[in-house]
Amino acid sequence: MRKYLIAGNWKMNSAPSGALDSGSTYQTHADVDVVVFPSFLDLPGCIDAKILCGPQHGHTEDHGAHTGDVSLKMCKDLGCLYALCGHSERRADHGETNEDVAAQCIAALELGLHPVVCVGETESERDAGKEKDIVKAQIAVLPLESEITIAYEPVWAIGTGKTASPEQAQEMHAFIRSLIPEDRRDVTRILYGGSMKPDNAEELLSQDDIDGGLIGGASLKPTDFGAIVEMATSLS
Ligand code: 13P
Repeated sequence: MRKYLIAGNWKMNSAPSGALDSGSTYQTHADVDVVVFPSFLDLPGCIDAKILCGPQHGHTEDHGAHTGDVSLKMCKDLGCLYALCGHSERRADHGETNEDVAAQCIAALELGLHPVVCVGETESERDAGKEKDIVKAQIAVLPLESEITIAYEPVWAIGTGKTASPEQAQEMHAFIRSLIPEDRRDVTRILYGGSMKPDNAEELLSQDDIDGGLIGGASLKPTDFGAIVEMATSLS
């Protein structure tokens, strides 16, 4: 019922070689939604290459005196369709709070951008048994009645090679789904992110409540990213 969404987060890296060529694996696929979050510099190239894309962050105000920022509106005007909100690296490096993330999500919706909102606990929060409380607080402020995508990215699994087990991920995804209002519960996509690779994608994507992936490191390798897209296609 929910179409898989496979998203690449290129973080502060240039577009992988060949990514913007026609026929690249980052372009639209028939049975799976494929989206890329490049740096601001690569957004125009992605749009020219007909890759569905969005910024990794955007200012909520349309324009103004905010040195170094780029607004969600500017991204929308450029041709973006998506916006990543609240990645844990933004929360950690730039002090984005749950409320800041919700404001970005709402601003994106108002502009007609589809928000992909990241949530997830740190290792110490999980060790303290607080992972559900943390994620619940991150989710509670979001406009869950709207068409948004949630990405569960346990911070301890990002870039560490330490993936959440399919059971751990499924448990959290089911918990997140239970927090979504009933009329959106079955249609809202919840992606998993954190060291997703071709060799663990199948067991993660096979879980009932995992509707795709938000992929960092492996999204910079076109072959690996393509293999994950193919896996999602074969599971569709
Ligand atoms: P990795 O796939 O490199 O662990 O990164 C995940 C991530 O942060 C995607 O947003």
